[in-house]
Amino acid sequence: ELKTNDQNHLIIGGVDSVKLAHKYGTPLVVYDVEKIRQQIKRFKSSFDESGLKYEISYASKAFAAIGMYQVLKQEGLHTDVVSGGELYTALKAGFPADKISFHGNNKSYQELEMAVDNHIGVVILDNFLEIELLKKVLQEKHTSINVMLRLTPGISAHTHKYDQTGQVDSKFGFDVESGQDKKALKQVLAIPEMKLIGIHAHIGSQIFGVQGFEMLAQKMVDISAEWKKEFEYKPEILNLGGGFGISYTDEDEPIGPDIFINKIITTLKEATQKADLVLPEVWIEPGRSIVGPAGFNLYTVGSRKDIPGMTSYINVDGGMGDNIRPALYQAKYEAVVTNKMKAELTEVDHLAGKYCESGDILIDKQKFPALVPGDIVAMLDTGAYGYSMASNYNLNPRPAVVFAENGQDKLVIERESFADLIKLDKSYL
Ligand code: LLP
Repeated sequence: ELKTNDQNHLIIGGVDSVKLAHKYGTPLVVYDVEKIRQQIKRFKSSFDESGLKYEISYASKAFAAIGMYQVLKQEGLHTDVVSGGELYTALKAGFPADKISFHGNNKSYQELEMAVDNHIGVVILDNFLEIELLKKVLQEKHTSINVMLRLTPGISAHTHKYDQTGQVDSKFGFDVESGQDKKALKQVLAIPEMKLIGIHAHIGSQIFGVQGFEMLAQKMVDISAEWKKEFEYKPEILNLGGGFGISYTDEDEPIGPDIFINKIITTLKEATQKADLVLPEVWIEPGRSIVGPAGFNLYTVGSRKDIPGMTSYINVDGGMGDNIRPALYQAKYEAVVTNKMKAELTEVDHLAGKYCESGDILIDKQKFPALVPGDIVAMLDTGAYGYSMASNYNLNPRPAVVFAENGQDKLVIERESFADLIKLDKSYL
């Protein structure tokens, strides 16, 4: 589905990627905004067919920037933030506060104040300390706010294929197994300043099996039924989190949003009918699946090292500073050479970053056309957790980010300068 022009250059959002690399320099992150919008539409249409009430809340952590929040606002999405920084950026972009959810397992008092002062849509409560802190903020300010309870549903990572975040996630939320959920429920129901609108759970990220989501939907209905019986309270909204997997290489089976959503909806309809409950409103929080496939990291080829009879390293001008995922998660990607899209693939190389670390290998091995300095390589599907996890390691400036759509390109994040790198430094002597 990659598009090329008559010069056999890769086209992104209707723009020649070789031109973008020359205009803005490399490393460069380019988003095909049409692709972002298409993916959002695919999620929406799957829900629309079902007639269910729903919201799609984009997970900011996948990629957050003023320009991104503006696109989300245009598309009428909600968003979830996990820090004062993401909240600040969303608000600065003019994103509607009432469509923001606030996540996190250790929100500070200041962050909660910021959420309350800006009247955000919902605070997703994660732990008992947070209930206390938010109560204090609300009582001090004589105001109220919507909340959800984040639950740890105990859906085992062993039965499904998750990436590492599945296990890390266990630090989040109220444990259902041991009854923390009910204790939290009782506390929150007793606080008049909090309006409990629903429950939330997130089972992991880069998930391919639909089974985990079916189990989660069933579990959430079971919890609702139990709460209704025991406490005469029933969540109006079930928020099933994100985690919908995308295909990075041939090894990943592509699976569209419609497949996930249809399974979730079927399960919910059956489960609520059985439990004699009315259908709840459903929220999801996709991050990766919305921006991942829309992102391209462009690099310029520089030096190479050929180890006779063994292997070749092709070195590019970026690496783990702009995409930590290969080094951190052994994540696999595919790349194309944007100025040689139809050339014969004659060599097998490692694509190596410029960072002083042996682990800075962007692609372990892949077929390439004969590569020479100045060629532009595009790593595909880098739109999620690429720029958002970028660092200044080795004091490399973070790349620029460009949005391309309908043949137009627009710089949405400037490239950092060397001066930016030391702007917070203070002289010691
Ligand atoms: N909602 C919650 C509460 C989450 O914790 C996450 C991701 C999402 C939604 C969005 O999940 P997604 O649809 O993007 O899979 N840095 C890792 C991914 C960390 C995901 C953490 N939570 C990576 O690069 O693979």
